[in-house]
Amino acid sequence: MTETTRDSVTRTFGILTAGGDCPGLNAAIRGVCRAAHGRYGMSIVGISDGYRGLIEQNVRVLRPVDFAGILTRGGTILGASREKPFKDSAGRDSEVAEDKVAAIIKNYHALHLDCLVVLGGNGTNTTGYRLACEGLNVLGLPKTIDNDIEGTDRTFGFNSALAIGTEAIDRLHSTAQSHNRVMVIELMGHKAGWLALYAGIAGGGDIILIPEIPYDIKAIGRDLAGRSRAGKTFSIVVVAEGALSIEEAKMDRKDRKKYRADFPTGYRIAKEIERETGMETRATVLGYVQRGGVPSATDRVLATSLGTAAADMLARGEYGKMVALAGNGIGAVDLSLPAGKVKTVPIDHFMLDTAKAVGTCLGV
Ligand code: F6P
Repeated sequence: MTETTRDSVTRTFGILTAGGDCPGLNAAIRGVCRAAHGRYGMSIVGISDGYRGLIEQNVRVLRPVDFAGILTRGGTILGASREKPFKDSAGRDSEVAEDKVAAIIKNYHALHLDCLVVLGGNGTNTTGYRLACEGLNVLGLPKTIDNDIEGTDRTFGFNSALAIGTEAIDRLHSTAQSHNRVMVIELMGHKAGWLALYAGIAGGGDIILIPEIPYDIKAIGRDLAGRSRAGKTFSIVVVAEGALSIEEAKMDRKDRKKYRADFPTGYRIAKEIERETGMETRATVLGYVQRGGVPSATDRVLATSLGTAAADMLARGEYGKMVALAGNGIGAVDLSLPAGKVKTVPIDHFMLDTAKAVGTCLGV
């Protein structure tokens, strides 16, 4: 049954995906576009490679054929970039940046957009907020495997990456057991520990290290020695890429950056463990595998529902917001809420207690 076209405040909108890609982006694009076009008859301008495409007017009209058959596809049909229009190459606001922002505003109007829909993480939604402050209508959607966006209970991409991380930990168990080794696995997550914490619990990690709880290598050594005395012949240590020691946490930002520059976190911690315990230790850095491939069923559902809710908001002219998961429903928050913030794991989060309750060491 075809729906009758409903009234809509938005006639034409632009859509872009920015920041690192993740599973579920295409499902979200499809959700927004199908509902916006099918239900409200809106016209859609697809913008290539994030904000860069709007600066360079690298755009194309999206027709139903363009967003058909993409639900299960990984990556993004629009392409992505880490272009931050308000920043220069050194990450500072500057005149160069002013030119890029001016180009975005000019092209937004030249394309006759009523709104710009941005699918992205903290940076993308922060830029969206700043563009809204410049007078553009903007709507954000929360995507990232890091799950670190303020204002939403969950981001799409997280569930898929969690499944990949968990499978990797499962696979490490058998080889760790065969060789009586300590296996360190580093998962992504930027400055937040959500992915490592959840995958660590799902995969039964013996030690989980996240940036929110600076670790003490002595405590890790004691835990591993205790496991050994109890007859456990191997251990799995799940490490967030942003995990840091108590000593690193005390360093100023510049010194810490220098100290961490040479080795990925997982390799560094594996070395520290070997030095501390004398136990044979190996490291695996899972990297971009976590961001690739098809979205999980949960991410498809979340991305689709966030996308269709965004289309309804476009129709109502409800701009300046980020669509969000709130409990079991879809809601929206003002774009100023996620702007400039990183949602880390609260130190009293119930999952930390869950981990401790099953005997997992959190590095302290
Ligand atoms: O934000 C997603 C993420 O995958 C982080 O987990 C990671 O720190 C970062 O992106 C990697 O970024 P890039 O794709 O620029 O190397």
